[in-house]
Amino acid sequence: MAPKKVRRIGILTGGGDCPGLNAVIRGVTKPAQDYGMNVLGILDGFEGLVEGRAKELKNSDVSGILAQGGTILGSSNKGDPFHWPVEKNGKIEIENRVEAVKRNYEAWNLDTLIAIGGDGTMHISKELGEEGLNVIGVPKTIDNDLSATDLTFGHDSAVYVVATALDRLHTTASSHHRIIVVEVMGRYAGWIALHGGMAGGADIILIPETPFSWEKIYEKIHKRELMGKKFSLVCVAEGAKALGENMVLKGKDIKRTDPRRLGGIAEVVARNIEENTGKETRVTVLGHLQRGGSPTPFDRILSTKYGAYAIELASKRKFGRMAALKGSEIKHVSISEAVANLKLVQENTQTVKVAKSVGISFGI
Ligand code: F6P
Repeated sequence: MAPKKVRRIGILTGGGDCPGLNAVIRGVTKPAQDYGMNVLGILDGFEGLVEGRAKELKNSDVSGILAQGGTILGSSNKGDPFHWPVEKNGKIEIENRVEAVKRNYEAWNLDTLIAIGGDGTMHISKELGEEGLNVIGVPKTIDNDLSATDLTFGHDSAVYVVATALDRLHTTASSHHRIIVVEVMGRYAGWIALHGGMAGGADIILIPETPFSWEKIYEKIHKRELMGKKFSLVCVAEGAKALGENMVLKGKDIKRTDPRRLGGIAEVVARNIEENTGKETRVTVLGHLQRGGSPTPFDRILSTKYGAYAIELASKRKFGRMAALKGSEIKHVSISEAVANLKLVQENTQTVKVAKSVGISFGI
């Protein structure tokens, strides 16, 4: 018997939002008719999948959203069906809601689910696949930390925000002879700091993968003083830490798949620089500016290609696969492979070597 044709696709956006999500939704929904498929948009990520909240997506719903930031479906980083927090007698208990997911998947008559998200979303997608659901992944995250793809969409847009912020901070740092410390996102990976810092001409880039030495930072600032450069820009990833010290945390939220909330390292770096070099410092935390607003042209194209490729994968019944950029082509990899390791910045990465060659210090 010929395998059942894929007729109905569910689509959701999981985890933290980022520019390009709407472009992917559009890239899936617009070609759907040509494949004889219809698309159901699941609301608020996996939360909507568990709670049965969704809406039909037609061409008219996705028209005009290519350049729109955020996600028309809503997203959440708290809806893991395998780790569903429930409040009981003032205490949070963790339950498994996969049966609710299966019920909704069947009630909605879905043949496949396209899950757009980062590491957390792909982990959940892998587990849902093991439970018998037909899942296809699309790699999203400003952090760019998924190892099976050369690039996740959203990263370029975040890098653009960091670079333009550094451009602006450059002029004011220079006028006032100050050290400005800019904190960027990225969780446990330093890609945003590396790419944003390089593009914005940072003098010092601090990343989680390479614990830094305080002395080396002071040395670099001093060297610049001797060269007549009385200001410096430090681009620090939220997950960066000094040698022998721990990451700086803002807090914990056990309802999230990863409970740690990172943040605060820029204040520590600025304080230490001021105390040890005598230079006046200021801090800018870019925060969610890096996730908001319109995607760059590069991300619009990449996201559209990812969306169109995901629906093609669905038509070929390539389940358990994630769309992945390999060079300039979109290919597919198994979701299990995609979640095996985080993609971290290696010391021998060409970009790191080039950054060092133009005088950028990594605090080592
Ligand atoms: O994974 C994307 C990301 O923006 C990280 O870089 C950051 O640590 C985290 O999400 C912030 O999450 P929230 O929006 O929940 O504060």
